[in-house]
This record gives sequence, structure tokens and C-alpha cells, in this order.
Amino acid sequence: MGSEPKPRILFTKHEIAATVERLAAEIRQDYQGKHPLLVGVLKGSFVFMADLIRRLDFPLEVDFIRLSSYGRGMESSGKVKVEQGLSAEVEGREVLIIEDIVDTGLAVSFLLDYLRKQKPASVRLCALTDKPSRRRVPVNIDYLGFTVPNKFIVGYGIDWDEKFRYLPDICALESAK
Ligand code: IMP
Ligand code: MG
Repeated sequence: MGSEPKPRILFTKHEIAATVERLAAEIRQDYQGKHPLLVGVLKGSFVFMADLIRRLDFPLEVDFIRLSSYGRGMESSGKVKVEQGLSAEVEGREVLIIEDIVDTGLAVSFLLDYLRKQKPASVRLCALTDKPSRRRVPVNIDYLGFTVPNKFIVGYGIDWDEKFRYLPDICALESAK
């Protein structure tokens, strides 16, 4: 191989905008008047979250959490920990997790457990993309954008080794796994 993998478009910025609007409409139905706490999982969700919240038309709060999976490159090792915690109180709140991608499911199921221990009124998951072919633990995604094939995804905030986050479309890396 030798060269860097090349991104190939899976979903254009126009398809993404339509999907973000669809998800926002679902969330508007369910969270109107509930003053939810949206928890963005750093770093991959920041572009999605920025677009999503501007399509919500009710008071809400935003916070971020950063997880690490003791791994590097394209494989998750399975051992997840909190690298940077929330500043908001979770107890009694209607919490909505905003994720870029659910792959093995290990990160988000860890996060669901972590948040539930803090006694939120509710906790749900909104994921921009889902790669079900790689799932190792079952995860229920309440609001899902796109199902993606078993390829490495980049763009629209999602990286490969900190590269390609700036791409406006959701792409697959061709010569990579
Ligand atoms: P999981 O624990 O395997 O479900 O995934 C944890 C995290 O790995 C995701 O939130 C992403 O940040 C990252 N990840 C998994 N698959 C991909 C991918 O295809 N592209 C970029 N990041 C990925
Ligand atoms: Mg992530």
C-alpha cells in the first residue's frame, strides 16, 4: 500500500443536512419543554452537535465528555475510561448522548452505565452513524442518522488519527479497514 487511504464519499453534505433535520424533528417532538442536557462525546461529535442544536427550538444545555479506549489507530481495545468528565450535574436531568459513530458499541455502553449511575431522569442515545456489522455488545440507538458499511468512516468531524475531520461529507477510507 504505502500511501494514505483515500476518502470516498458515502453521504454528501446535502444528505447529512436532511438527516440532521430529520433527527432534530424527532428530538423536538420528544424533548420540547424538558430542558435536556445534551452530552457530546468528544471529539468526533462536535460538528454534528453544532448543526443539530441549531435545529432545536427549545431551551437545552450542552456538555461534553471525552472517553479513551486504551487503543490507537482503527481498533478499539475494549477498555474504556473517562478522559475528561462532565461539568454539569446529571442527577434528575433528561440526558441525550450525541455520538458520531457506534462501532463495537463498547464506548457507548460504558457511557450509558456511567451516566445511569448518576441517576438521570432519563438517558437516550442519538448517533449520527451506526456500523452494526462490528457490534460486540448490544446497543439501542434512539435516534439514528445513517447505517454505514464495515469501512472506516471519516469527515463531518470524524477522524482517522486526527485527519480528515474537516471534510464536509461523510466518507469511507478506501484502502483502510
Ligand atoms: P466503539 O466503542 O467501537 O463503538 O467506538 C468508539 C469510538 O471509536 C467511536 O465513538 C468513534 O469515535 C471511534 N470509531 C469507531 N469506528 C470509527 C470509524 O469508522 N471512524 C472513525 N472513528 C471510529
Ligand atoms: Mg466517538
